Amino acid sequence: MSSNFGIEQLRLLEQQFERECTSVTDSRSLEDIRARYLSRKSGLLTSQLQNLGKLPAADRAEFGRVANQLKNRIELTLADLQHNIVQREKNAALESESLDVTLPGNTRRIGHRHPLTIVRKEIEDIFIAMGYTVEEGPEVETTYYNFDALNTPQAHPARDPRDTFYIADELVLRTHTSPVQIRTMEKMKPPVRIICPGKVFRRDAFDPTHSPMFHQVEGLLVDEGVTFSDMKGTLERFHKQFFGESTRTRLRPSFFPFTEPSAEVDISCVSCGGTGCRNCKGTGWIEVMGCGMVHTALFRNVGYDPQKYTGFAFGGGIERYAKLRYNVEDLQFYFQNDMRFLEQF
Ligand code: PHE
Repeated sequence: MSSNFGIEQLRLLEQQFERECTSVTDSRSLEDIRARYLSRKSGLLTSQLQNLGKLPAADRAEFGRVANQLKNRIELTLADLQHNIVQREKNAALESESLDVTLPGNTRRIGHRHPLTIVRKEIEDIFIAMGYTVEEGPEVETTYYNFDALNTPQAHPARDPRDTFYIADELVLRTHTSPVQIRTMEKMKPPVRIICPGKVFRRDAFDPTHSPMFHQVEGLLVDEGVTFSDMKGTLERFHKQFFGESTRTRLRPSFFPFTEPSAEVDISCVSCGGTGCRNCKGTGWIEVMGCGMVHTALFRNVGYDPQKYTGFAFGGGIERYAKLRYNVEDLQFYFQNDMRFLEQF
């Protein structure tokens, strides 16, 4: 009887273990059950094995065999459980930490290019495609580059401090981008093909058509054998490209100290196509640029041989082009940085 008693205990222990296993659901309860049965000091199975010595010698081998079997079964079962639990806990973690990549993201506010920037870049692209490069020059300029080297007489009204911002005696905020003609010719030999967009400054009060700061784009081409009709063709091509192929260009005689002969460039009205409307004041034409053949005085000032080279130059206001492109009449919109305006571009 007593010999079976030990083994009977093991059977009961096994049943108890199997029952308890069903409530093992996580690593913690797994560790609990492992300790309860197998812990070296107080494990239920361990204490059974400690009883070994109390059994009759004849029963010890059988008891030992069954006890070891049970120990193996418990260990295997626990290993199985552990495997499942680890897997389940891993899945749960993945699930709780997973991202739903189909959720809409946080929309970012994307900036807008300023309309003047859009127009400037478009002008640049057209001339770059014709082989021109883009130059820059200083906005604070000496009177030499802004006036003298451009053949502007000492008494010219543009030099008047009522029209021009003086920083010092011989230092001004440039009143046009034309000084870049001189700076460019000083630093490179012909052939020269450049445009120069940039800020210019004149002492005008703000009103819908005036601003003390606005933008121009200058153009300069110098080479051997350059003619007036090269200029006309270039300007015609540019304006067709910018405003559309139906755009016509006409030149009207004019005067600038740095070009001879000089002309104003008109384009056929972008609103009415030339029949006459409010935008062109009934004339069918809109003035957009000044231009002319580079004055020989400029060539002498930069050390070019006027016998060898001829060239043409042109300059126009970028705001004017933007106004014709976008139909924005009032200059203030370009400079107030009102988002309601800028967001439309
Ligand atoms: N600089 C002139 C202006 O500001 C424009 C111009 C440029 C005219 C080049 C002729 C040649 O009005």
